Amino acid sequence: MSLPFPKLDAAEAAALIKNGDVVGFNGFTAAGVAKAICRAIAARAKEEHAAGRPFKIGAITGASTGPSLDGELAKADAVSFRTPFQSDPDMRKAINEGRVKFFDLHLSLLPQAMRYGHLGRVNWAVIEACDVSADGSITLTSSVGAAPTQCRCADKILIELSHAHPKSLLGIHDIYEPLDPPHRREIPIYKPSDRIGLPVIKVPPTKIAGIVESNIQDEIGGFSPPGDEAKKIGANVAGFLAAELRRGTLPKGFLPIQSGVGDTANAVLGAMGENPDIPPFEMYSEVLQDSVFQLMKTGKILFGSSVALTASGPMRKEIYDNLDFFRSRVVLRPQEITNHPEVIRRLGVISINTAIECDIFGNINSTHVLGKDLMNGIGGSGDFTRNAFISIFTCPSVAKGGKISTIVPLVSHMDHSEHSVSAIVTEQGVADLRGLSPHERAQKIINNCAHPMYREALLRYCAATKKGHTPHSLARAFAFHQRFLETGDMTGAIVD
Ligand code: COA
Repeated sequence: MSLPFPKLDAAEAAALIKNGDVVGFNGFTAAGVAKAICRAIAARAKEEHAAGRPFKIGAITGASTGPSLDGELAKADAVSFRTPFQSDPDMRKAINEGRVKFFDLHLSLLPQAMRYGHLGRVNWAVIEACDVSADGSITLTSSVGAAPTQCRCADKILIELSHAHPKSLLGIHDIYEPLDPPHRREIPIYKPSDRIGLPVIKVPPTKIAGIVESNIQDEIGGFSPPGDEAKKIGANVAGFLAAELRRGTLPKGFLPIQSGVGDTANAVLGAMGENPDIPPFEMYSEVLQDSVFQLMKTGKILFGSSVALTASGPMRKEIYDNLDFFRSRVVLRPQEITNHPEVIRRLGVISINTAIECDIFGNINSTHVLGKDLMNGIGGSGDFTRNAFISIFTCPSVAKGGKISTIVPLVSHMDHSEHSVSAIVTEQGVADLRGLSPHERAQKIINNCAHPMYREALLRYCAATKKGHTPHSLARAFAFHQRFLETGDMTGAIVD
């Protein structure tokens, strides 16, 4: 059936977007992001710049995206403002060089910030869909992100109708937007598999400015097999949680798991899958990576609630070839719901995220290198950490071949405070921080998590700063970072 919407090519769609417009792009990680239209916007920016005309847009996504969006737009110098999260090397460079203004926002808050008008007017929503009908029902693809709110808030919608995703994805999404204060009610999710919304986004058909057909696969790279260090971190997390079960501080049936992105997160889930003392469990997370789908096949993971199917190409094919199996085990929700504090706390989610650095008192830096350069952003780590039943941070004890200790006297940037962090896990071991005073936390983190080559220096720092509830030497709190800036190596800091 032909649709009553203009059929455009990507360049025609990009030509509708004006310099200074704010565009909401759906997608979450590199899953479910419009690609052809983004590439065309970047090409348009280059043409406009070559002709001596300004062209930059504000880009509001769900979270990180793929190279066609953040990479191409950054390289084309086509972005003035970016929120809420990114992980692209070119976009990161542009942000750190001050060419793009970046607003690092908790992912759960992005949709309501748009609805409240805190991010200004949204001119366009650019939405990847696998199906759309004449009545304005949109079936999304491999992620939901902030798409429902982007469609609600935008003046006009451009749809990238992607044939790389099957229309039979219908039924995997659960589209629900809470009312805004003072009318908001509870979000009625009582277990990860509860469905509370619609399978499609409904928009007024008059808002749809055009449809661009495409056939581009999600730009998600493969995951490396875990190295020894990641395996040890994974085994330490799994051992810690199995011990909690034995102690009776976790219910026998276990609790839902949230796990971050990347190879360490994959390794942690792999280790949990292999640990015979951990029963089959559910995920209430913002991403599901390859390891989750593997564990679904073995029956170790029973269900996954997520924003995105962050699956490598081969795994995505397997999921799409076996959609009946996976559709009954997966629900894709808006980030406002997956990451909602109310639901995370109600379900008792165990959060597992990765830190860039941790300090000896349990404060966590997730976002900045050496206190100034943005890595990716806070993402969902704050949403989950602050509200989890147990909040765990993992990281290798050293980075850059040992020249950097990830355990430092004081974090150079703080995203998660000591008040929200239950445990830190490195390949060296586990520091369970619950119920400990700052003095006790420092001893535990140094002895259990710091690399042996940095333990003495950290203990010397503590010995020299005994006074106060949370003792610090303001003169030496950044001695590790200072030493790295001076010599390119943190070893040798705090020798007396
Ligand atoms: N100081 C300086 N550099 C450091 C460092 C430190 N303390 N710790 C790590 N690095 C460097 C690594 O050497 C690596 O550099 P390279 O890219 O040049 O090799 C880089 O930072 C990334 O480190 P890596 O160990 O590969 O990180 P990762 O892929 O496991 O990601 C985070 C770690 C923290 C960047 C990532 O988890 C993140 O963005 N977190 C915030 C968002 C989040 O937690 N979301 C959770 C819900 S999905």
